[in-house]
Amino acid sequence: MATDSNKFQAIISHSKEYGFIFPSSEIYDGLSAVYDYGQWGSELKKNIRDYWWKSMTQMHENIVGIDAAIFMHPTTWKASGHVDNFNDPMIDNKDSKKRYRVDHLIEAFADELEKAGKKEAADALIQEMESLLGADDMAGLKSMIEKHNMKCSVSGTCNWTDVRQFNLMFSTQLGSVSEDSNEIYLRPETAQGIFVNFLNVQKTGRMKIPFGIAQTGKAFRNEIVARQFIFRMREFEQMEMQFFIRPGTEGEWYEYWKAERMKWHLSLGIAAERYRFHDHAKLAHYAKAACDIEFEFPIGFKEVEGIHSRGDFDLSQHQKFSKKKMQYFDAEINQNYVPYVIETSIGLDRTVMMVMSEAYCEEDLSTAEKQDSRVVLKFPAKLAPVKLAVLPLTKKDGLPEIAREIMDNCKPHFRCFYEEKDAIGKRYRRMDAIGTPFCVTVDHQTKEDQTVTIRYRDTMQQERIPIEKIKAIILSEIF
Ligand code: GAP
Repeated sequence: MATDSNKFQAIISHSKEYGFIFPSSEIYDGLSAVYDYGQWGSELKKNIRDYWWKSMTQMHENIVGIDAAIFMHPTTWKASGHVDNFNDPMIDNKDSKKRYRVDHLIEAFADELEKAGKKEAADALIQEMESLLGADDMAGLKSMIEKHNMKCSVSGTCNWTDVRQFNLMFSTQLGSVSEDSNEIYLRPETAQGIFVNFLNVQKTGRMKIPFGIAQTGKAFRNEIVARQFIFRMREFEQMEMQFFIRPGTEGEWYEYWKAERMKWHLSLGIAAERYRFHDHAKLAHYAKAACDIEFEFPIGFKEVEGIHSRGDFDLSQHQKFSKKKMQYFDAEINQNYVPYVIETSIGLDRTVMMVMSEAYCEEDLSTAEKQDSRVVLKFPAKLAPVKLAVLPLTKKDGLPEIAREIMDNCKPHFRCFYEEKDAIGKRYRRMDAIGTPFCVTVDHQTKEDQTVTIRYRDTMQQERIPIEKIKAIILSEIF
């Protein structure tokens, strides 16, 4: 059984071995903090994305979805504050030339203190860091690092540069002439595509406040410390929703969305104690109040989702920079105003990592007679990449033909997988390893009475059911 400290490594290896997640361009030794999703990882990711999309749009009559472009007019990022404020404080070690995000350096030091049984000192350190970050006190952060003698993990020295701000946006050139005016950014969040389309959607959809606009898509950040598998990537995917409300109602809507989003997380079948809220001490440049939903990964409690009360910051800024009115006429109170916004923003890749961490189990199945074990991914059936495996016991006697008929009947409705090679036990284990919740085996009895054995992944229980019931059983479990 993997211990907590090596479970993370076991998940990374398993993800690669079973076609979930590969390092990007691996044949060239990979690209730091960039990953590719394989055949099962992309199915899992799509299922999570679809589940979020359905919960947000289909299940909320006042929320619609859009799909905005990654490239946006460069003024977008001036207006949003990202050009001037989307920075992280960095520090370089003069000996190793290694660059650190200051908060990560201090957090790693605090983790070590905690591991050494000095929890109070660790908490005090984090508190001090948060108040210095909140005050943008770069000199204070540097003296904190020096005072505690925090060392670079490469050089082992404490020979630091000053703390400087470093912008996280990637830029590129639009068109063939490299002039300043052609410089554009790869979006660092999907939210701005929603803000600039606020009036388009409100008018064409005849939306009435309160209403929301949802979107999923890629975002890009030049993360400095990016070595936590898909937790912190340079190219990642967000699922965001901006909820437009009447000014003055932000307190109640902020609480509403905190509760609503936590309900969504719990609907994944994950226990409540694996989650916690964390209020932000240092607010992003756009936020009036903000908290994270943190999940207990094998590497500790970490942020999966942010809920932010953004006030009218973004729409007002776009109004100012574009000189186009970003107002809404509220017929109920006979007033024009720039709406306030509550944002929910969840990382899709982090959610994949959360679902993988929760699902990953190493089970000892040894008996007095023989040693045995299995690795099983206990995904909720609705998220599993493959829902049903259809396995003829042998390659002959007409069994594959019956199995193929079951495939043809089921595959228009959900993802199925057909396999006739190897002993049945081996095939079950392979399905456990990719988290397939149901396997049906076609055997000689099937020819007599039109029944198959269905095997349930988590309990490994088996029972005989009529072929005609297979589809309905699976459908009832995956919605
Ligand atoms: N629009 C608000 C916004 O972007 P954020 O807290 O910076 O807020 C939201 O990001 C979510 O996006 C995070 O909670 C996290 O799940 C995900 N995320 C952010 N940076 C990421 C990265 N480098 N790699 C993977 N996911 C990331």
